[in-house]
Amino acid sequence: MPDTMSDTTIQASATAQHGFTPALAERLRAVLGDKGMITDPAEMGGYLMEWRGLWTGRSPAILRPATTAECAEAVRLCAEAGVRMVPQAGNTSMVGASVPHETGDEVVISVSRMNRIIEVDPADMTMTVEAGAVLAAVQKAAADVECLFPLSLGAEGTAQIGGNLGTNAGGNTTLRYGNARDMVLGLEVVLPDGQVLDMLRRLRKDNTGYCLRHLFIGAEGTLGIITKAVLKLYPRQRDTQVAFVAVESVDAALALLNRFQRHDGASLTAFEYMMRFGLELVYRHIPGSAAPLADPHEHYCLIELSSPRPDASLRQGIEAVLEAAMADGLVRDAVIAESDAQRAALWRLREEHSEAQKREGASIKNDVSVPVSRVPALIADASAACRALIPGIRVCAFGHVGDGNIHFNLSVPEGADGAAFLKRWDEVAAAVNGVVRSLGGSFSAEHGVGRLKARTLAAWREGPELDLMRAIKRTIDPGNLMNPGKVVTLP
Ligand code: FAD
Ligand code: MLT
Ligand code: ZN
Repeated sequence: MPDTMSDTTIQASATAQHGFTPALAERLRAVLGDKGMITDPAEMGGYLMEWRGLWTGRSPAILRPATTAECAEAVRLCAEAGVRMVPQAGNTSMVGASVPHETGDEVVISVSRMNRIIEVDPADMTMTVEAGAVLAAVQKAAADVECLFPLSLGAEGTAQIGGNLGTNAGGNTTLRYGNARDMVLGLEVVLPDGQVLDMLRRLRKDNTGYCLRHLFIGAEGTLGIITKAVLKLYPRQRDTQVAFVAVESVDAALALLNRFQRHDGASLTAFEYMMRFGLELVYRHIPGSAAPLADPHEHYCLIELSSPRPDASLRQGIEAVLEAAMADGLVRDAVIAESDAQRAALWRLREEHSEAQKREGASIKNDVSVPVSRVPALIADASAACRALIPGIRVCAFGHVGDGNIHFNLSVPEGADGAAFLKRWDEVAAAVNGVVRSLGGSFSAEHGVGRLKARTLAAWREGPELDLMRAIKRTIDPGNLMNPGKVVTLP
């Protein structure tokens, strides 16, 4: 478990106000009803525990408003009483951002009951949703009207729009469609004092002062609670091709990416990297998974091309690029899916990396990014640094290489003690981040800062950038009530 945990805990408890009184509980229950408030510890577990078990918080109550008005009133009451609040959606955060501290004085405000898809408008190509709508349900509602909502990530069956926007999630399609913030036109937010900020516009152009919605997107719940959003839709894809490709090296993966971008950059939807060890974990731990190629290789890419045109000839294109790359020694072997089922099976090998690594035992995650061209140096140098630190450490690097975003994850050496390994989290992260910084990268690409990396943010962004972030936090949340101790810590 990272040491950063204890730091933010101390920071939060030092200024704690014990305002969750029986009288407040009664007023909250009157607003939210019995369904809207959980105080029985036996029912709270899922809201308090980080999904990998790295942190388990405590809380006097889980508040589950069903509407914006209920949410606003609950926030107002908590703010009045000085009670700290932790916004939560699907609770799949990778950085401990969505669970309360161990102090026991922070309420969780879950948006999961606010899960309506309010309006789908294929003419405007927009969808208006409540923050608790599950990402997979949003994708389906778009498909039902022949549209696409392109945000796609491994946790899409559980993660909710409020959390996706709270973290400015990336995922598998950033290469083509951008991050979550690029898919949003309008937002409704409950501010830390309970006021409702209605910016639920669906305009493609709207230059009317500071673009406030982008402050709340990616703020990880530290500035307010997103309650609704107007999302952008795109045309539904009618031709999709997926290839699973063994490449000669990480450099070869980048050369192949470049070839696909030049060939048909507009159709390139995903370009993911995997290594032999990660796939071996998937074959070992995920029932029904199997190697798609006859022989094992050290490096792999999963490539998707898609187009709304049914006659886009993507199959011929993908074959031509791969054949030429094979002739030039970049590609060792490849398979192109023949059906939707095969496409899903190939994607599953990529998507199950997190779960497989979790089942293998203790692991340390580093969600980092560098300029795309520097990914080979990142993987080589960070691997060497980690192996020098902990001999036998098992590198499981994978991810969105097309965006320069590698999940430089590390598994405990075989036979070693998991808890002892996790105690070295900060040392390992420092070794990886040292390499990342030397390559001009970022210590958090898409998972956010949360609790895990709050100290790192303070160190990396020190100076006017951090001062401005703190000034924004103080202006919008002067009482430091909204997700305290996460992202921007106040001195
Ligand atoms: P939560 O975990 O509940 O919350 C995340 C953050 O948003 C917290 O800071 C929380 O306080 C805040 N928040 C929640 N709701 C609101 C709201 N209504 N208003 C304001 N703030 C709010 N992430 C990626 O970016 N790309 C990936 O490819 C990816 N793959 C994943 C694969 C797996 C298997 C898992 C478990 C996670 C993955 N993630 C990935 C991380 C995670 O799923 C995303 O960050 C996701 O967007 C979080 O959504 P959530 O609903 O679970 O949010
Ligand atoms: C993914 O892309 O699968 C996740 O974001 C990575 C992780 O588990 O670290
Ligand atoms: Zn990812």
